Amino acid sequence: MSPSPYNVGLLGLGTVGSAFAKLLEERSEAIAALTGRAPTLCGVLTTSRGSFQDVLDSSELLVELIGGIEPARQYLLDAMQAGRHVITANKQLVCEHGEELFDAARQHGVQLRFEAAVAGVVPVVRVLQESLAGAHVERIHGIVNGTTNFILSEMERGASYPDALAEAQRQGIAEADPSADVSGRDAAAKMAILARLAFGTPVALKDVRYEGIEHLHADDMQYARELGLGLKLVGTAERLNGGISVRVHPTFLYGGHPLASISGPFNAVTVESDAITEITMSGPGAGGRQTASAVLGDLVSVICERAAPAPPAQPLPLVSDVSSAFYLHMEVADRPRALAAVAGLLGEHGASIKSVSQRGLGENARLVMVTHPISESRLREATRLIGELEFVGSVPRTIRVIEEEFL
Ligand SMILES: NC(=O)c1ccc[n+]([C@@H]2O[C@H](COP(=O)([O-])OP(=O)(O)OC[C@H]3O[C@@H](n4cnc5c(N)ncnc54)[C@H](OP(=O)(O)O)[C@@H]3O)[C@@H](O)[C@H]2O)c1
Repeated sequence: MSPSPYNVGLLGLGTVGSAFAKLLEERSEAIAALTGRAPTLCGVLTTSRGSFQDVLDSSELLVELIGGIEPARQYLLDAMQAGRHVITANKQLVCEHGEELFDAARQHGVQLRFEAAVAGVVPVVRVLQESLAGAHVERIHGIVNGTTNFILSEMERGASYPDALAEAQRQGIAEADPSADVSGRDAAAKMAILARLAFGTPVALKDVRYEGIEHLHADDMQYARELGLGLKLVGTAERLNGGISVRVHPTFLYGGHPLASISGPFNAVTVESDAITEITMSGPGAGGRQTASAVLGDLVSVICERAAPAPPAQPLPLVSDVSSAFYLHMEVADRPRALAAVAGLLGEHGASIKSVSQRGLGENARLVMVTHPISESRLREATRLIGELEFVGSVPRTIRVIEEEFL
């Protein structure tokens, strides 16, 4: 007996949508052998083709690959109300309207899946919702934007920021308007989604503090390399003092951290919990076929009726003043006791120095150091006072450092 068709309606036939349509055709037979149902495209909607109602009427499941908020949001709500399972790759929509969509899925008893919305092909959504559903996740670190990871990899090889960005655009890795990527906003939306899944608390983009890579200096990367550090744009979501902190900023990592070796346009996510210690998943962060593969995985999960639970959210307070080790870079005139004065001010604010390196002599020396953990507010006060010392050129540049190495 031939397997019965499973009718899939597709909204959007662009980079990901057209790759999904092709992959579905290629893999339908294999999926049928696995699930007993042969997924088949039953209708397509674009700006110039098809009608939403026709696609909805003929489908058992809708895949939304339009992007943006409207009409994608309304289409998903209408589809769920009509009893259809839905899959989307739309991080902006899940980040900004996640609770409304989760509520609709619960209310209508359908599945809402969005693996491709975070970290491309890296299956972190499924791991958090299923494999680690019973673990008490303490912290997630993620490189969740491939464009910025590519740019930073180029800068580590000595390129300036403008040259690295131009190369990313030339290779089609960065968009003509790269602002959402380089400002950290894209990564912040993805970390908000991961925090919602890991901690069961509603997290909106406005709850995520983010900083981009536009103001980084190539020389910071060179000095830091001497201290054994590499630079990544890292998103962090963690439990702290009964609350949570979700943030994205350039971060130095020691070589033994699992994210330190992720280079080029790749993504990786590290999940930490008492029960599992640490696991890391990595893979391509974008690309039509890669993203389509994650969508197809969601489709198989729905056909197999694997549940994707998103229980109602329980609000947790946001913690803003987070402790961390810091890298400091300052321009100093090389005077007797200059280092002692800087170390003294840091010590008065509770920061001790882990490593230090001085470059150059005379009026144009550079002092580069890494502290042990200190709260951000105390670090800012200490650097303000250091910037006022007569032999220091300006307020030191600071970048966070993750100390863990999991070796
Ligand atoms: N590209 C990636 O590597 C990647 C990676 C991860 C996630 N995503 C996500 O995947 C989604 C799709 O991205 P994409 O790169 O494939 O986008 P895209 O290439 O711009 O394609 C968008 C598609 O949606 C259609 N569309 C736009 N507005 C519409 C409307 N109002 N009604 C009906 N159809 C409409 C377009 O129709 P026309 O063909 O008529 O223009 C086009 O077919 C986005 O949410 C994106 O964030 C993409």
